[in-house]
Amino acid sequence: MKKLLAMLMACTMIFSLSACSGGSSEQAETASAGTSSAESTADDSTSKDSGDLITVGFAQVGHESDWRTASTNSVQAALSKDNGFDLQFVDCDNDSAKQLEAVRNFIQQGVDYIVIDPIVSTGWDTVLGEAQNAGIPVIVIDRTIDDSDKYTAWVGSEFTNEGLAAGAWLKDYAAAKGIKEINALVIEGTTGSSAQIGRTAGFKKIADENGWKILDSQTGNFTQDGGQSVMESYCKSYQGKFNVVVCQNDNEAFGAEDAMSAAGVKFGTDGDVILISFDACKAGLKDVLAGKINADFQCNPLQGPFCADIIKNLAADKDVEKKTYMVEPWYVSEDSLTNITYTNNAGKSVTEDLIHVTQDVVDKAY
Ligand code: AHR
Repeated sequence: MKKLLAMLMACTMIFSLSACSGGSSEQAETASAGTSSAESTADDSTSKDSGDLITVGFAQVGHESDWRTASTNSVQAALSKDNGFDLQFVDCDNDSAKQLEAVRNFIQQGVDYIVIDPIVSTGWDTVLGEAQNAGIPVIVIDRTIDDSDKYTAWVGSEFTNEGLAAGAWLKDYAAAKGIKEINALVIEGTTGSSAQIGRTAGFKKIADENGWKILDSQTGNFTQDGGQSVMESYCKSYQGKFNVVVCQNDNEAFGAEDAMSAAGVKFGTDGDVILISFDACKAGLKDVLAGKINADFQCNPLQGPFCADIIKNLAADKDVEKKTYMVEPWYVSEDSLTNITYTNNAGKSVTEDLIHVTQDVVDKAY
């Protein structure tokens, strides 16, 4: 009976979602973490008998970064038993085959809902079709699935905008400091993840427009060790030739800092190399405050409450948005620039404030 209801619900949702959103980013709702109605949903729920709980399987990317820990904590807290959920969590250890297997296991077990943070953005159509045939709605969080729309809802980041913003900030910062030439080294995230694809494309677009040189761009897999070993090799190959390092997450930046310090390269606000990062986790913002990282572009990991909200709405047979974007501020170590203007991925000119990091900002970070 439960399965039949789920299948009917899936059919209703497919119809209502294609009718109301069509998946276009223009129609997507902008969401601010911590202010969603999801919070009230979670708070209002009371403990349930296990028979009443909504069963959810969550195939998480892995445990590669501070960001990932915050994401896992956010989902586990929001999809708790007290909030009416029975959550099965699988850490896929950054292994795509393991992630597909986890999803297939959830389907076999007949969970009510599946949550996926896709390691890579392609290769999903078949397994999503299997979930759809089994009548199990799939909610995608954080990274995007780009080769299938057989999921019910997605909530996450506009990664290309993060890369564009980083480039726009660098352009204004370099102009303010009288820096004429940019020779950048990029440490990318996990190859094939939408976070890596978007941030790489966004920054490259601004680099190309301004005639900057990207001397090299290699993956550090979103890990501190990866960032450190790529930077160690960059320091040898490009000694004295680079003045910008772009790390696609904070953990890579921590590794790059260690490698540059060991090689005697001065970076940050008082250095010869501008260090840019993404995520803006607490440890990252600490380094912004200390002047080690010049600018940090937030990727917001607090998607758990949105996830709970989406599932509760689906369970109540209500419409949900196909796409929800997290609100993500940009952080800087110096207060010389107060905002940046750039053309975002939707072709719209936007002006966004830059947050000058203080101890208070660090204290409030995830
Ligand atoms: O998908 C989000 C990215 O994945 C974060 O930037 C990174 O820290 C994480 O591992």
